Amino acid sequence: MAMNSAARMAGIEPFHVMELMAQAQALEAQGREIVHMEVGEPDFPTPQPVIEAAQRFLAGGHVHYTNALGIAPLREAIAGFYATRYGIAVNPARIVVTAGASGALLLALGALITPGDEWLLTDPGYPCNRHFMRFCEGVPRALAVDATTNFQPTAAQVGAGWTARTRGLLVASPANPTGTLIEPAQLAALWQTVQERGGTLIVDEIYHGLTYGFDARTALELSDDIIVINSFSKYFGMTGWRLGWLVVPPNLVRNVEKLAQNLYIAPSTVAQHAALAAFTPATLALCEARRAEFQARRDLLLPGLRRLGFDIATEPKGAFYIYAEIAGLDTDSYRLAGRLLNEAGVAATPGLDFGNNAPSRHMRFAYTTGAAQLARGLERMTSLFGRQ
Ligand SMILES: Cc1ncc(COP(=O)(O)O)c(C=O)c1O
Repeated sequence: MAMNSAARMAGIEPFHVMELMAQAQALEAQGREIVHMEVGEPDFPTPQPVIEAAQRFLAGGHVHYTNALGIAPLREAIAGFYATRYGIAVNPARIVVTAGASGALLLALGALITPGDEWLLTDPGYPCNRHFMRFCEGVPRALAVDATTNFQPTAAQVGAGWTARTRGLLVASPANPTGTLIEPAQLAALWQTVQERGGTLIVDEIYHGLTYGFDARTALELSDDIIVINSFSKYFGMTGWRLGWLVVPPNLVRNVEKLAQNLYIAPSTVAQHAALAAFTPATLALCEARRAEFQARRDLLLPGLRRLGFDIATEPKGAFYIYAEIAGLDTDSYRLAGRLLNEAGVAATPGLDFGNNAPSRHMRFAYTTGAAQLARGLERMTSLFGRQ
């Protein structure tokens, strides 16, 4: 008997870049050397103090379930991080440790969405967001954003896009795939617009710490009613540990806790104990050095791509992505991605993965590989385009 999939599965798409990655791997298997600029995670290893904390914890052998909201010392350490980094007091009771920002987004949306609710989000944007909403039987509504507004929505756009069924807005700052931020005044205007309509604002701050030349401010400064997402994946370089967190208003904690208990019982115990070492001076010093390295890479790749003919109207100030308009280089970014891979040995992500707003005109380049590799990638693209 054929298995019938849920209707919602029709709206949940795969990552198109996976196809390109498979091609890249096939080329590598044939001995080709590929410069990887498609990868959305830091290339650095887990900070050593974090590894040692995990090893010490494992040596004790007591690896059991934890509280669904996370272990108290970690929730307190995260609150301490808000105090020292941002100068704001966050009650640890509002901090929920999750299985990555992915788990945090699912818990928040799962606790908030009633089937049929509409939520606003940006296009281009992080592709999983619309799928999370769909999974919760909500209706994602895209706001098309472009370089004229730093690829971030304006209050006017949110107001115009809001309908009687809209319940909230989800934004990321810095954002994936564009690396652009929402200025504090703009965030305040967005929050006011959402609040006036009785909606909920979720701000994904997963790329905080990876901003260049300045520190981003958290949306929690504006209000305790804003929901904030964060993660150990990017700034702390801990993608594979699957650990993040969510800050929610007090009245949402219980529902989020119930969902976490039922969906996965608790976040990884080893990862939580390891993450206690993330906030130590030694780890933070390492993360800051890596941040400087990411900035140097951006400062190499950005002018390099521009020299090649890519159009990057707004300077990305955070994350590790450059979202480039392919301008005169090709008319189809998916085809260009294939050419870059096959003819120049450079892997990058076509716009297709990030939404439906002019995807064929854009590509995302990630500087998650060393400066020497980036320089090699630029050289190879220079000779490819020189041959055109
Ligand atoms: C904007 C954004 N949010 C959330 C995530 C999920 O990250 P994780 O679950 O590893 O914390 C990512 C990963 O790339 C992302 O780019």
